[in-house]
Amino acid sequence: MNIVVVGAQWGDEGKGKIIDFLAKDSDIVVRYQGGNNAGHTVVIDKEEFVLHLVPSGILHRDKLCIIGNGVVIDPSALISEIEGLKKKKIYIDTNLMLSEQAHVIFPYHRLLDELREKRRKIGTTGRGIGPCYADKIARVGIRVVDLLEEEIFAQKLKLNLEEKNKILKNVYGCKGFSFEKIFTEYREYAKKIKKYVKNTTLILKEAVKKKKNILFEGAQGTLLDIDFGTYPYVTASNASVGGVCTGTGISPKDIHKIIGVAKAYTTRVGEGPFPTEFAVDLMEKFRLRGKEYGATTGRPRRCGWFDVVLVKYSVMVNGMDELAITKLDVLDEMPEIKICVGYEYKGKVYHHFPANLRILYEGRPIYEKHKGWLSDTSRITSFKDLPERAKGYLNRLSELLGVKVRLVSVGSERNQTFIL
Ligand code: GDP
Ligand code: IMO
Ligand code: MG
Repeated sequence: MNIVVVGAQWGDEGKGKIIDFLAKDSDIVVRYQGGNNAGHTVVIDKEEFVLHLVPSGILHRDKLCIIGNGVVIDPSALISEIEGLKKKKIYIDTNLMLSEQAHVIFPYHRLLDELREKRRKIGTTGRGIGPCYADKIARVGIRVVDLLEEEIFAQKLKLNLEEKNKILKNVYGCKGFSFEKIFTEYREYAKKIKKYVKNTTLILKEAVKKKKNILFEGAQGTLLDIDFGTYPYVTASNASVGGVCTGTGISPKDIHKIIGVAKAYTTRVGEGPFPTEFAVDLMEKFRLRGKEYGATTGRPRRCGWFDVVLVKYSVMVNGMDELAITKLDVLDEMPEIKICVGYEYKGKVYHHFPANLRILYEGRPIYEKHKGWLSDTSRITSFKDLPERAKGYLNRLSELLGVKVRLVSVGSERNQTFIL
């Protein structure tokens, strides 16, 4: 069975943890989009692992992990992530593969990301993700396969630098980059990553033929999707299920199940509308209890109540079959829990996600109020043992969203997850 795990909100829903949970029944775990803007956390016996480019399946020794063509690769970040994992005694060798068609992030992408942020703030991770995808679409990008061919790489890099240095100088008043320096640096990276570079589309095709179980690990979330998210406050790739096919070469016919991951409340990092965002005191409470600080940049995450309008839209866009709800335990001490079921804007009620950001910015959320369960759920291992009110909350979410909640997470540890 080939399963996609996709973020149903604005990222950081706990996808890494759910991937780790599902990976034990899979043969292959594949990342399909995004880059090292992602930070996927898995906690095993109190030891924390944060994965950025390497699929979260790497923590299971016998799984093949593939970084697909849709992912953008900062080679220095990839190399230091691999080294960091090896230091933590994680086995990485032939179990990791990188698509030769993936695009490469260069220092000018990171600098342009930073400079553009100063002009119009999106609140990006500053990893050069957007500028790298922009080059890919403009057909001037440099792929992993190009990096491995000295002459082709030199030619493409020269052409790119000619243009990028002019932009840096004339538009932003900055110094440009030296060809020699980047060329030498990236040839060194090429030597180090070469052994992982493969025709991953072909390898996946063969795995499908052999009926292997493949898990597709989404990064970011549907509301950060370049097409379906809160544009322009989004990332530069298709984080939703469509990205799986374009980002790996798998056929849509070979996807069997789509699991969405949502927090029991909502968070987002960076700028952009957030209808159910908390005021100061609840914000502080959730940040503290939920440890809501970014796994990549360490920035505090913005927090708010669960928003059914947004997640219902995610269910629709992705065709979700099931939902995993994480961080239920963070609500344990809340006397009252709210669910947003619509927005009221200029006398009109909206139950469907509006493309017009003004409605999201200025609309008044319409809430359903639920009494909290006020007890510790973090040691619970089955749905039937949850407090009645927690069961009621999950059942109500499932009813409003029109999709079954199949997995529940009540803590960051690997074993704090159960199936319904
Ligand atoms: P991802 O990007 O979707 O993989 O999510 P992140 O790793 O960025 O953020 C999720 C954070 O919540 C991590 O620190 C996890 O360890 C933590 N986490 C995941 N599930 C739970 C849960 O059920 N309860 C609590 N308290 N923490 C969780
Ligand atoms: P995971 O996979 C949460 C956000 C950034 C910013 C916007 C654009 O861990 O869920 P970018 O650097 O991608 O151009 O930034 O997207 N963002 C994320 N937010 N989780 C992520 O990944 C994110 N990756 C990017 O904060 O608002
Ligand atoms: Mg994250």
